[in-house]
Amino acid sequence: MSTTITTDPTPTSETELLVDPAELRAEVRDKYSEVATNTEGEFHFHTGRRLAQMLDYPTNILTGLPESAVASFAGVDNPFDHGRLPTGGRVLDLGSGGGFDCFVAAELVGPTGSVVGVDMTPEMLTRARRAATEMGVPNVEFREGILEELPVADGSADVVISNGVINLVADKAKVLAEAHRSLRSGGVLQFADIAVGVSVPEAAKCDIELWTDCIAGGLSVDEWCELISAAGFTQISVGLPTDTFGGAAGESRARSFEVFGHTFRAVKA
Ligand SMILES: C[S@@+](CC[C@H](N)C(=O)[O-])C[C@H]1O[C@@H](n2cnc3c(N)ncnc32)[C@H](O)[C@@H]1O
Repeated sequence: MSTTITTDPTPTSETELLVDPAELRAEVRDKYSEVATNTEGEFHFHTGRRLAQMLDYPTNILTGLPESAVASFAGVDNPFDHGRLPTGGRVLDLGSGGGFDCFVAAELVGPTGSVVGVDMTPEMLTRARRAATEMGVPNVEFREGILEELPVADGSADVVISNGVINLVADKAKVLAEAHRSLRSGGVLQFADIAVGVSVPEAAKCDIELWTDCIAGGLSVDEWCELISAAGFTQISVGLPTDTFGGAAGESRARSFEVFGHTFRAVKA
């Protein structure tokens, strides 16, 4: 794939996209349906409980969650490390996958809070909804949708979280604009994603497989901050790098682009 794409069914004005957004979504769906259905599978990244432990998720919450809620976790860092979620808060999780971060968020905001997870992969949604039913959590809901057109009302969230997802989207500006729309004024964007330390060559940026492997879609930390700021957020802060791919099958490829997980936090003015 080497064409420069300038149109999208839901385009951000003036964004020049290097891959076709719909084609990328189809490939990402394929990859993550496998992560949802083959929990014993060998992927280029870590998954499940081992990953959550590596990323220092709170042990008391982790031990209380059944395997069904944790097995398909495929995040890249711990977004909850970057600031407390408010008790009673309304949380929106972009690309909620198997639901793990939604269940953690539900614990953190407590029974007076609520969590909505949005994802486009049916197998992930099935897994997440099944785990929610198994656990009997009434305040967590999963909606099918794409991050470029979030199925939520304006200003309906106090906190928007995400983990290892926005790098997988061609039109990141659109996703951040949607996050901004979804938040109330003063609401917080607090997400984890990968950042690259060396610039990814143009040819690699056009390689969809490198996108689904969480490499080609990564921005540098500075580029992430510029995009977050351009979407209308202020008070941007960035967490320290996490060696997300250390010991995973994709480690050497990640090393070649100096890929690390980071957390980002910003406020809707
Ligand atoms: C790496 S997984 C992370 C899932 C979850 N956040 C976690 O930490 O386990 C990426 C998830 O993002 C979803 N996703 C990627 N691009 C998306 C898009 N454009 N719209 C909706 N969901 C998307 C995929 O379906 C997949 O479930």
